[in-house]
Amino acid sequence: MNKTSKFLSIFSSALLFSACGSENKPTVETMETAETVSETPSFMDIVKNRYSCRSFDSTQVKREHLDLILEAGRLAPTAKNLQEQHVYVCQSKESLAKIDSLTPCRYGAPTCLIVTWDTTNVFTYPGDKYNSGIEDATIVATHMMLAAKSVGVESCWLNFFNPDDVAASFNISKNEVVLMILPIGYADENAGPNQNHFNRKPLTETVTYL
Ligand SMILES: Cc1cc2nc3c(=O)[nH]c(=O)nc-3n(C[C@H](O)[C@H](O)[C@H](O)COP(=O)(O)O)c2cc1C
Repeated sequence: MNKTSKFLSIFSSALLFSACGSENKPTVETMETAETVSETPSFMDIVKNRYSCRSFDSTQVKREHLDLILEAGRLAPTAKNLQEQHVYVCQSKESLAKIDSLTPCRYGAPTCLIVTWDTTNVFTYPGDKYNSGIEDATIVATHMMLAAKSVGVESCWLNFFNPDDVAASFNISKNEVVLMILPIGYADENAGPNQNHFNRKPLTETVTYL
């Protein structure tokens, strides 16, 4: 097992076991949990099998899955550990209707995560041109997207919306910029990867050894 998959496996185990309380006796619940842990997909399985899901079941995301996804975002690295991200969880009828008025791309997901970053709490890079906001929030969102897949929750990274309209619609602070929306849920029978998913450039086009 390589380092990354070991980390994910330990990370998922810690999260799953923390939900079981401090009882040491093996119970049906802990036995089931241990089984779930041993079936945790490898990191490369998660990366390969994740796809942009565009057709969700209406079943709400299980609380333990949502907690794990949010925890994976919380543990993301950020420049100088500034943690300038904020994640808004939309599950109410009203908030999902707002999302639908802002983008056609919710695809029926019962939960949407809006990821923002705080423009007043960023690391400005030497040269004074760029700062850490977008990339830190992107790492948070990527952690959540992959953590979701690790527990069978599908997602689709969304940017097809006007970020300022999303911020205004949800009364998000003027200091925050909306990075992306992540609809999450379980795939319905129409879901599946489209052709884009299988169409990646070869490493010879995207990697150069210097
Ligand atoms: C930054 C970014 C923005 C995206 N925006 C949207 C979007 O608004 N709507 C959508 O349906 N898919 C969106 N996607 C999904 C991409 O189209 C998809 O990731 C790409 O075609 C590869 O397919 P795959 O994710 O199934 O492997 C976005 C992906 C990224 C990374």
